[in-house]
Amino acid sequence: MYLTKDEERIYEGESGWATQICMKILVRLGELFNATKLIPVHSAHVSGVSYKTLGDSPTEFLEALSNAGGKVTVKATLNPHGYDTEYLSKKLDKHLCKKQLNILRTFKKMGFTRSFTCTPYYLERQFRNAHLAWAESSAVVYANSVLGAWTNREGGPSALAAAIIGKTPDYGMHKAENRQPKLLVTLESKLKNEAEVGALGILLGKILEDNIPIIQGLKIASKDTLKQLGAALASTGMANMFYLSSPFTKTNKLERITIENKDLKHTIETMSTTSKSKPDLIFIGCPHCSINEIKQIASLINGKKVKKDTEFWVCTSHHIKEKARNYIKKIEKSGAHIITDTCAVVTWTDQLGIKTIMTNSAKTAHYTPTLNKADTILAPLKECLKTAIKG
Ligand code: F3S
Repeated sequence: MYLTKDEERIYEGESGWATQICMKILVRLGELFNATKLIPVHSAHVSGVSYKTLGDSPTEFLEALSNAGGKVTVKATLNPHGYDTEYLSKKLDKHLCKKQLNILRTFKKMGFTRSFTCTPYYLERQFRNAHLAWAESSAVVYANSVLGAWTNREGGPSALAAAIIGKTPDYGMHKAENRQPKLLVTLESKLKNEAEVGALGILLGKILEDNIPIIQGLKIASKDTLKQLGAALASTGMANMFYLSSPFTKTNKLERITIENKDLKHTIETMSTTSKSKPDLIFIGCPHCSINEIKQIASLINGKKVKKDTEFWVCTSHHIKEKARNYIKKIEKSGAHIITDTCAVVTWTDQLGIKTIMTNSAKTAHYTPTLNKADTILAPLKECLKTAIKG
């Protein structure tokens, strides 16, 4: 792999251990994928911020980087962590919160933006044609497919290294030839809601492996629905992008598959792991809610109250919470909890006695049995609200 004189000096350790190890991570990755050079990135987004998913050894590596003077050199955002300060921190084990706090302090010292969201694309708007080094898989698919940005699905360490070096190896989704669709997907009938679109993502992820699809019949889907599709697609497969229409005119040479209604129905049924009708938690906001979604939830609640003994969480970033203040107030008045900086998957729901989670997110439904050790019910937003709200 070609390195500039400056990059070589960093690689040899002339700028210290922190930048040297980061450069080595990027070069090793580049060599693995036959990259010929490093390219500058507009921003890096690091996942694995929650102590629940990070654990002790990576935390020690992070601290070593920070102690050795590691600092970000490009805009660098962070995924959700293990708690929010207003609600969950008061209920969770203090020892876990302390461990989490240390991780947050380390990231802060290194100059990361304390975004704590899986939707960093709501923090700014200029992503078209930008090369990124993002690690959150749902954001990667959204960035490539909806925002017109260029990013591989980074791991936590490579996104961290890219944040510090400001560059990433030039391979995979950074190259136009790897962004060509390989399959044409048609749907037997129109999908009715975001849970069905999420289930489509789960099913396609398993079928496609890393092949990029054109998905016909979803053209009018909202950006929020496409966010659900990408999150689900990335949960079960390695495709980092989808198209809704062909980027070039001829599609006759592409392999074709049709998703039948019975396949989708079966996927939704198998994703709900319990027949219990009363979940311990109703969770909306995976990936974190947009302003539009917050608005929609406020209008569907329409002054009604959350049922007695019902735990209802709406997760978003503190950025969106601030921007949608009026709608947030309406939702909170119902008795629902607006939770920022974390989500049901990366916090410790088992510590709160939560054994069944109802959600409109196929991604959450996919991970809940393993990461939350809980049963799951996948249902569209309106049904989740019907379960949570009186009347
Ligand atoms: Fe975000 Fe948590 Fe879902 S990090 S994508 S809300 S699992």
